[in-house]
Amino acid sequence: MSNTAPGAEPHSIPLAMTVNGRAISARAEPRANLADFLRDDLDLTGTHLGCEHGVCGACTVLLDGEPARSCLAFAVACDGSRVETIEGLDNDEITSELRAAFTREHALQCGYCTPGMLITARDLVIRMPDADERRVRLGLSGNLCRCTGYVGIVRAVRAVITERRARGIAARSGEGCRAIGPVGAAAGSDGHITPRNGSHPRELAQASVPSATGATEFTPANTFEQSFTAGFSAADVFALFGRIEDVAACLPGASVTARPTPDIVDGVIRVRVGPIGAAFAGSALIERDEERRSGRIVGAGIDGNSRTQGVIRYRVLEGPSAGTARVELHVGYTLKGPLAQFSRPGLVRDLAARITAQFAANLAARLAGQPVTGSARGINPLSLLAAHLRARISAWFGRHGG
Ligand code: FES
Ligand code: FES
Repeated sequence: MSNTAPGAEPHSIPLAMTVNGRAISARAEPRANLADFLRDDLDLTGTHLGCEHGVCGACTVLLDGEPARSCLAFAVACDGSRVETIEGLDNDEITSELRAAFTREHALQCGYCTPGMLITARDLVIRMPDADERRVRLGLSGNLCRCTGYVGIVRAVRAVITERRARGIAARSGEGCRAIGPVGAAAGSDGHITPRNGSHPRELAQASVPSATGATEFTPANTFEQSFTAGFSAADVFALFGRIEDVAACLPGASVTARPTPDIVDGVIRVRVGPIGAAFAGSALIERDEERRSGRIVGAGIDGNSRTQGVIRYRVLEGPSAGTARVELHVGYTLKGPLAQFSRPGLVRDLAARITAQFAANLAARLAGQPVTGSARGINPLSLLAAHLRARISAWFGRHGG
């Protein structure tokens, strides 16, 4: 089904991107992922779909020069991006060498994984200084092959790296991806963030915070609501929300990078999915309404080419029993750039529920004067993904079982 037929998709929105060097102007439904858009609208069927959950890597394409899961990226979130699919690498020197090596080493059988595998392998060939087997295997760990057992694939990739280094072609580790793994890999692993487009996170944040009229400068693409009950009085919980360093200490993956003022805070939020990591550095504006025990935090962050803008509204109410509080959270956010691949609603909903549960537990510990655990390592949605798949499988068996 095409997203471009005039009138066929009443909710479609316009987008423009460069695909395999060709400028594309099209329309896509907000829910259409990049893989479906490439396959159905542009007939680029070399991009395969396996799991559609970001696990198998069959759908890997280059997004602004970095390998990305096109099954998890909304097409409209890639507006303005440069996309390369396997078809666009027909005459690419490294891909040609990899194709020859794959043939020589019997590195494919059915070939279903091969387009995604070649795109990831090409990235490794560019960046890896030498053909260290452990690092090649780690670099390919986000691409699954059900046929070959990987031996031939690893051998092929190592051979191309070795041959190119022997020809005096050095690794270009400073370009494109900065480390092993797909988009965002190792970003923030040392806490050092260097926006490549020249804009400082704070500039982006300040463009997102409320204008003089009180209206936010952006409309979040995704929203969700969460609530939890805390075994402390509403006054105590609301007071904690006013201490932004305490809030950051409770929020998995968050840390404050400079002493906050009552109304603005600079910080970093780290997210990691297996080999894919991101650290959004940014700023947020804080507002509080003491009378209504409510508040709003509006901010933005940057990680490489990915940007996020978000708003958290909270309200602290009396809980179901004396001395307890009920916290209601309303969160809206937009992700742009390669990491927009993690905008998939099911994943976001589950991730939000887990972060909220961890936040509530940390908040209770903090209020009780106990150490907070499980927040410093960052958000790790890998276990979330496993839980998400488990839940889907159980639901499926529930529907189809006897
Ligand atoms: S289809 Fe499996 S990662 Fe996209
Ligand atoms: S060759 Fe069949 S899945 Fe890899």
